[in-house]
Amino acid sequence: MLDHLPEKFTAVVTGANGGIGHALVKALLDSTHIGRVIAVSRRDIALDDARVTSLAADITTQSGLDALAAETEGRPLHLLFNTVGILHDDEHGVQPEKRLEQFDVDAFAHVMHVNAATPLRLLSVLNDSLKGSHPTIVASLSARVGSIGDNGFGGWYSYRASKAAHNMLMKTASIELGRLNKQAIVLCLHPGTTDTSLSEPFQARVPQDKLFTPTFVAESLLKVIDQRTPEDTGSFWDWAGEPIEW
Ligand SMILES: NC(=O)c1ccc[n+]([C@@H]2O[C@H](COP(=O)([O-])OP(=O)(O)OC[C@H]3O[C@@H](n4cnc5c(N)ncnc54)[C@H](OP(=O)(O)O)[C@@H]3O)[C@@H](O)[C@H]2O)c1
Repeated sequence: MLDHLPEKFTAVVTGANGGIGHALVKALLDSTHIGRVIAVSRRDIALDDARVTSLAADITTQSGLDALAAETEGRPLHLLFNTVGILHDDEHGVQPEKRLEQFDVDAFAHVMHVNAATPLRLLSVLNDSLKGSHPTIVASLSARVGSIGDNGFGGWYSYRASKAAHNMLMKTASIELGRLNKQAIVLCLHPGTTDTSLSEPFQARVPQDKLFTPTFVAESLLKVIDQRTPEDTGSFWDWAGEPIEW
């Protein structure tokens, strides 16, 4: 897996205590090819593996981003897998809207901050580790509902808009990063409906065979990124390796 990355490559996984993020850390550790995983979460991550560095940091804040930059020290990074994202957040009054009158500008700003601005700020603080001449993959979790072309059902204004903004920011960054590192691959990914705390309140009408385990999704997404080349940079894919329209 990820054979085109150097032997003992370095990865950063954000949202490492989230459903998909945690499964990704474990799936990466299944490979003997990986040298180091910096697992970033607001809470320490307990994994008994010498290749894991647990970094307790909130990357939605400047101090959290600074802590991550200090940990990587500008050394080459070969995989950045961002899984941070919200759909609902009681603390900030965020619930996916069904109707126009439920739209709240403060909740919208919070969702945009976590889902769109934070992934781009990650690239900004890690730029020294991404640029150069080494192979590097940036994979950031989006959602199919962020596709404007695919929006047939409406609703979920803030979440949809934040993922559409996420995709535009990643696409734009892929162009700049392509100039700074010819081997860079920047990808937006849709994991499919996955059994995590994010989807939990909305699972009732999801058929059982369409609700994936985090382990299955982590393994599927690693296969998808494994098949991409620098020519694919700035593109949007689902868990099955099918491209998604913007
Ligand atoms: N589950 C699905 O069906 C589904 C479908 C489509 C897209 N996605 C996308 O996949 C990504 C991962 O989702 P998931 O299902 O694994 O959800 P999850 O279990 O809730 O994990 C998301 C993680 O994001 C981080 N996070 C959330 N709110 C934050 C905040 N305010 N400040 C800082 N960090 C915060 C947390 O990481 P730590 O706890 O480690 O700090 C959290 O565990 C998200 O971007 C989501 O939009 C999920």
